[in-house]
Amino acid sequence: MTAPGTGTPLDDPETLRKRALAALLTARERTALLTSCVEDPELTAQHSPLMSPLVWDLAHIGNQEELWLLRTVAGRDAMRPDIDGLYDAFEHPRAERPSLPLLPPAEARSYAAEVRGRALDILESTAFQGTGAPLTEAGFAFGMIAQHEQQHDETMLITHQLRTGPVALTAPDPLPAPAFTGPAEVLVPGGPFTMGTSTEPWALDNERPAHARLVPPFFIDTTPVTNEAYQAFIADGGYTDRRWWAPEGWSHIRAHSIEAPQFWYRDGGQWLRRRFGATEVVPPDEPVLHVSWYEADAYARWAGRRLPSEAEWEKAARHDPETGRSTRYPWGDADPTPEHANLGQRHLRPAPAGSYPAGQSPLGVRQLIGDVWEWTSSDLLPYPGFSAFPYREYSEVFFGSEHKVLRGGSFAVDPVACRGTFRNWDYPVRRQIFSGFRTARDAGPDSA
Ligand SMILES: [Fe+2]
Repeated sequence: MTAPGTGTPLDDPETLRKRALAALLTARERTALLTSCVEDPELTAQHSPLMSPLVWDLAHIGNQEELWLLRTVAGRDAMRPDIDGLYDAFEHPRAERPSLPLLPPAEARSYAAEVRGRALDILESTAFQGTGAPLTEAGFAFGMIAQHEQQHDETMLITHQLRTGPVALTAPDPLPAPAFTGPAEVLVPGGPFTMGTSTEPWALDNERPAHARLVPPFFIDTTPVTNEAYQAFIADGGYTDRRWWAPEGWSHIRAHSIEAPQFWYRDGGQWLRRRFGATEVVPPDEPVLHVSWYEADAYARWAGRRLPSEAEWEKAARHDPETGRSTRYPWGDADPTPEHANLGQRHLRPAPAGSYPAGQSPLGVRQLIGDVWEWTSSDLLPYPGFSAFPYREYSEVFFGSEHKVLRGGSFAVDPVACRGTFRNWDYPVRRQIFSGFRTARDAGPDSA
């Protein structure tokens, strides 16, 4: 199969093999950067009860790669059966991980490197087509492992954001953008669209299968909500007015004395924030970052709006009203380039709202992909026809009303782990993640 209209050969085995190799190498380069920018004691320390020590992530990346590529795909024996339990995310919650007898940094590095060396040999010799093995068809297992490493790289970047003291990570800022002067919202016409995917080779189980979803007409913000707009909510007493808050959100902000996004603090008349160890004035034109689902939900209610549902978000991002087809990304089927979106930790912050005109959807919605994860109103639920693959713990155990869905990826997400169908989730109180949002509202049938 070729993605329609683009010539992207999504099923040519040799192209996929090259992609898998590139994705694994890119991920490892980033892992090395994130674990070499601090001294060893910083790798073994726990910087927040919400996070693992960085050295846990490092060996866990190697352990998952060993489990899936070496043992499951290639049938090899366990290299270190003694450490499997330590790096099983379900056996040990994050808060408990620093007290485990973890591999010290040098050993964790060499273990991950040894696994990688063997995995690359297996990559070369594994058939990608017609094997009857779903795990290796189209190189899925290799794509899954590259995504897994990149997801932990994003987690490690969050750990760096939570650390106190200087952070030796640098990246150029996104280019300044002229103030966005387009319409504040866009009408997405009502009707069915195709949600999820059955053709994206490395899509994870929760993104599957493709299915028709009827979505009534709605308006959605053209850009994510900015710091400036969010500051107006704060200035209007948003955090002290119970009317805007879901009851659990209200209890949570009262109990934890929350009065602004995480990492913000007031200095006289202005808001400052701590970002990767440095302090700066909160930039007014950037999408707001580090807000919880409750904060996003309260802002939307204050603004006389609401969060988009997950289906609305995906329709805004993928539905092309001209052809009636759902594309892989808002701009079409082509893989992301730096002109389309702020992805892959090229920058250490979101780009100003209204950036990336080349990445906009056919209806003109911008920055759906990259910059900030966007909270939706939806709980994480399986699509009709869902089947867990290759293991229940990837998504199935998280289904239910405890987790809210985030879409679109942040500046810290690599393109391999980001597409129009990709689903992320977290507890509604969480905000150490690179989370922002945009708002929506119903449109009457007359506006369709
Ligand atoms: Fe993991």
